[in-house]
Amino acid sequence: MEKLEVLLKREEIGQKITALADQIRRDYQGRCPLLIGVLKGSFVFMADLIRILDMPLQVEFVRLSSYGSGKQTSGKIKFAQGLRSSIRGRDVLVIEDIVDSGLTLSFFLDYLRRKKPASLKVCALFDKASRREVPVPIDYIGFVIPDAFVVGYGLDFDERFRHLPDLCILEGG
Ligand code: IMP
Ligand code: MG
Repeated sequence: MEKLEVLLKREEIGQKITALADQIRRDYQGRCPLLIGVLKGSFVFMADLIRILDMPLQVEFVRLSSYGSGKQTSGKIKFAQGLRSSIRGRDVLVIEDIVDSGLTLSFFLDYLRRKKPASLKVCALFDKASRREVPVPIDYIGFVIPDAFVVGYGLDFDERFRHLPDLCILEGG
């Protein structure tokens, strides 16, 4: 039977996003960064983050897929929707919901580097650091979380639970 247990409440997530935004605003002062969200999971985080950032910025999204319908990455990553505009000379900040094995982010960063941005940084709200298979640089980390499958705040299991305002551990799914 499925059971949801709250890991991080919406208020805690909100406070963390405010702190991340303060750091990002300071670091990118006087510039207009391009925030690239990795769909689908990052859309809730992106929406909250940019409204707190309150600075000149632009937003793009890509969709990468590796997961089938299970809880493990297949390891094979591909673009379901790529970038539509050039990033050459731009200050690019990748917005990720969660980094697990690191395979998705590693693939995406290699792709972005070849497109010659002026700078390239990563902001991830949740980090399952203990599950890393390939090292990836994360410049702004929200929460390091335990090795559990989590849903809510944009994250899904089989397209379910994205709407939950809290981050919850899904047991027995
Ligand atoms: P990675 O390539 O293993 O780092 O996986 C990254 C992607 O897997 C994330 O962007 C999520 O879409 C998905 N993912 C990893 N862990 C979880 C989880 O606990 N819940 C929901 N999705 C997850
Ligand atoms: Mg994701």
